[in-house]
Order: sequence, then structure tokens, then C-alpha cells
Amino acid sequence: MKSQIFVLIVICFFTYSSSLKIGETCGSCDAGLTCQTCPANGNTRPRCSRILSSNPVNKVKGLPFNRYSWLTTHNSFAMAGARSATGSIILAPMNQDDTIADQLKNGVRGFMLDMYDFQNDVWLCHSTGGKCFNFSSFIPAVNALRDMRSFLDANPSEIITIFIEDYVRAPAALTKVIQASGINKYMFPVGRLPKNGSDWPTVDDMILNNQRFIAFSSRSSKEAAEGIPFTWKYVVENQYGDEGMQPGSCPNRNESPPMNTKSRSLVLMNFFHSTPNRSQACGDNSAPLLSMLKTCHEAAGNRWPNFIAVDYYLRSDGGGVPQAVDAANGRLTCGCDSIAYCKANGTFGSCDVPPISPPPPASEAAPNGNQKSPNNSQASNAYSGRTAMMMQLVVLTMVATTFLAWL
Ligand SMILES: *[C@@H]1O[C@H](CO)[C@@H](O)[C@H](O)[C@H]1NC(C)=O
Ligand SMILES: *[C@@H]1O[C@H](CO)[C@@H](O)[C@H](O)[C@H]1NC(C)=O
Ligand SMILES: *[C@@H]1O[C@H](CO)[C@@H](O)[C@H](O)[C@H]1NC(C)=O
Ligand SMILES: *[C@@H]1O[C@H](CO)[C@@H](O)[C@H](O)[C@H]1NC(C)=O
Ligand SMILES: *[C@@H]1O[C@H](CO)[C@@H](O)[C@H](O)[C@H]1NC(C)=O
Repeated sequence: MKSQIFVLIVICFFTYSSSLKIGETCGSCDAGLTCQTCPANGNTRPRCSRILSSNPVNKVKGLPFNRYSWLTTHNSFAMAGARSATGSIILAPMNQDDTIADQLKNGVRGFMLDMYDFQNDVWLCHSTGGKCFNFSSFIPAVNALRDMRSFLDANPSEIITIFIEDYVRAPAALTKVIQASGINKYMFPVGRLPKNGSDWPTVDDMILNNQRFIAFSSRSSKEAAEGIPFTWKYVVENQYGDEGMQPGSCPNRNESPPMNTKSRSLVLMNFFHSTPNRSQACGDNSAPLLSMLKTCHEAAGNRWPNFIAVDYYLRSDGGGVPQAVDAANGRLTCGCDSIAYCKANGTFGSCDVPPISPPPPASEAAPNGNQKSPNNSQASNAYSGRTAMMMQLVVLTMVATTFLAWL
């Protein structure tokens, strides 16, 4: 009996100390994953969920910028629980869990920033009526741009794109704040943006020339006045908010040309509710996101989104937004279902068979754990395999020790 208990303790210890993969009940998870539940998806069992997005250029090099997809945060600055830099409490919806600096570390490369005239400066605010107040202000824009500049300084082959929802009316105020942050030295010049839907320069070219910061403004006048390109002259973008989350439909937002307009080289996909809801986001950022990716691909004339914009990007029930970005990148760069399956130097469409399938969405998993899968699909088996193995080991050990004791 004593030896049985000892063996069990050893097994438990082993289980706890070993690292865990996506979808497995946690404990402690591998690097790049966090342990979270997603009750909105009926998943109350904590599981390891992915938060780290991989840079597609590390896998497939040398393509034009518009042949890659980037994880993008909506209202990147609106961090839950934050206080305004004015000291005021904030009475505005919040969209993310961490700072822009932390988002950069996790692989976020697109940022949607609402910029306002405020306190004789430009601030990031989540406001209404085009006017920022203490209670709707987050941080001065220069702070965010400085974090981005430091990141570009430290990572000489990374590229950042910002989409400014531009309420700034003070003349040259954007230019001033961009210069004050020092990020102007990385500006991708407006004259180099492809005008007629042709390919962008390659990422190598952008890196070589240190033109690694792209800023778009929602105000068309800024292009002539300050050299900040007007978003919808270069980008098609679907409807944001609840209207943009209807399954099977991906209409353009009003300001954007229709999604299939090929004279725009970049495709931006929004996928978040009108009112941000942290508990709901883990559900949104899972199977429905992957499904909308396909819908928008079709709507955009068979073009995979270059920017995938979400709320609470850290929340999901497994592969999350990084998985969706990997899927878009696989399609864009090598013609495979995920960039993880691209062969090194392979021809377009030659893919490595995935070694382990990703876990199924939580809603399809068996209610009481991992033993029963809804059918014999490979994914469900891979997902339940580890726990099943563990249980077998425990049972075998118990049988063996009982047998030995009986002897
Ligand atoms: C807003 O915050 C500033 C501090 O940055 C303060 O001086 C000012 O009085 C505040 N305004 C209101 C209306 O509370
Ligand atoms: C883009 O298309 C417009 C209209 O078709 C044409 O006038 C213009 O010259 C084109 N520009 C380039 C750079 O090809
Ligand atoms: C947020 O989402 C949760 C989970 O789906 C839901 O129960 C709740 O009612 C939502 N809250 C709001 C304010 O919509
Ligand atoms: C891929 O191509 C690059 C450049 O041509 C070469 O340096 C590298 O060794 C190749 N890798 C493989 C796995 O063939
Ligand atoms: C079983 O798996 C197949 C293919 O993976 C899928 O199309 C089907 O919907 C699944 N059936 C159930 C009941 O989940």
C-alpha cells in the first residue's frame, strides 16, 4: 500500500512538473501560453491557451509586405483597469488586458489608436463626439509611439503598422508627436505606398531601408498636409462591431471601398463586438474568428486578411488569435493551412503534414474531460491522447503494485 502511494505521488509530481501544450488542462503551461477558462464557450476547465504570435517572416522570407498577416489590437491603449495619465478615473469601455509594450512582446504588430487633441497635445482617448475628457483619456500618444520606437530600435527586422482613428485637428499635431517620439526615422514614406493595388516592397527591402513604421490616418486631408497616408486609399476594411460579426457575411465599413476592391493592396479584418466584453472575447477569438477569416477571404476576392483586429487578444479557448494569424500567413506565404506547415524553401502549396493537430474548440470537447471525443477525428484523439496515456499509466502502476503486494 505504501509503495502504491509512493508511486502515485511520483506520477502526480511528474505530471505537474512537466510542461503543457495548447488545450491541455493546466497547471503550468509552455512558454507563450497562459492558463485560462472560457465559460462563454462552456469551457470551465482551465486549459493552456496561446498568447504569443509568431513572426511569419522568420518562416517564409523575402515576400512583399502585403503577403503577410499581422495580429492587430483594437483600441490597443484601452487597457482594462487603467487610470488616465491625468490621474482621473476612466469612464470608457476598455478593450485589452495589457500595455502596448507588452503587446509588442507578444507579437502584436498592428495597433488601432484613437488620437485626439487634448491638453495642448495629442492623446489616446476612448471618447465620443470627437472630444477627449479627463475621464475618457488614457495616455499621451507620444508615450505609445516611444514604446514602439524602442521596440524597433531593439528589433531591427520588425515592422509595425498603426491605424489612427484621427480626431486631431490642430495643424501638424500628428507630425509633431511622431517626431517627438523619435519614430519618424522609421517612417515608411507615403510616396512608396502602392497606389493601384500592386505589391508592396518586400519586407527585406523595408528592413534594409529601415522603413519599418507604417502609419495610416482616417482623415484624408492628412496625406497631403502631413504625408500620413489615408487608410482607405490603400486598405479595404470590413464592418466593425456587432454588425461585422454576423456569421457568413463580411461587408465593408462605410469609409472603405468594397472588400473585393483590388486597387487596394491590404485587407484588414475587424472582429470584435460594439461593446467590448472580456468574458465574451475568449469565445469570439476562437472558432468564430477562424470562420470569419474564411468569410472575409472570400468577400475580399480570395485575399487573406493582412491585419486581424480583435479585442482582448490574450483571451481564447486554445489557439486563439495567434492561430488565426498563422492560418492567414500559411495561406498567404506558402499555400498551407498554417504557416507552421510551410516547408523551408518549399514551392507554393507543398506543406508538411502537421505533427499534432490543434485541440478542438472547447464546445466540441466532451463535457467531463478528455476521455470521450465526439467522433474519431484525429484532432480529438491528439487532444485526449495525453490524459488517456496518463490514466493508463496510473492504472497499470496500480495493478502492478497490487500484484506485487499480493505476491
Ligand atoms: C483634468 O486633469 C488635469 C490634470 O492633468 C487637471 O489639471 C484638470 O483640472 C482636470 N480637469 C477636470 C475637469 O477635472
Ligand atoms: C493607377 O491607375 C490610374 C487609373 O487607372 C492611372 O491613372 C495611374 O497612372 C495608375 N498609377 C500607377 C502608378 O500605375
Ligand atoms: C458578456 O459576455 C458574457 C458571456 O457571454 C455574458 O454572459 C454577458 O451578459 C455579457 N455582458 C454584457 C454586458 O453584454
Ligand atoms: C533555403 O534557402 C536559403 C537561401 O537560398 C538557404 O540558405 C537555406 O539553406 C535553404 N534552407 C533549406 C532548408 O533548404
Ligand atoms: C467528425 O469529424 C468530421 C471530420 O473531422 C467532421 O466533419 C464531423 O462534423 C465530426 N462529427 C461530429 C459529430 O463532431
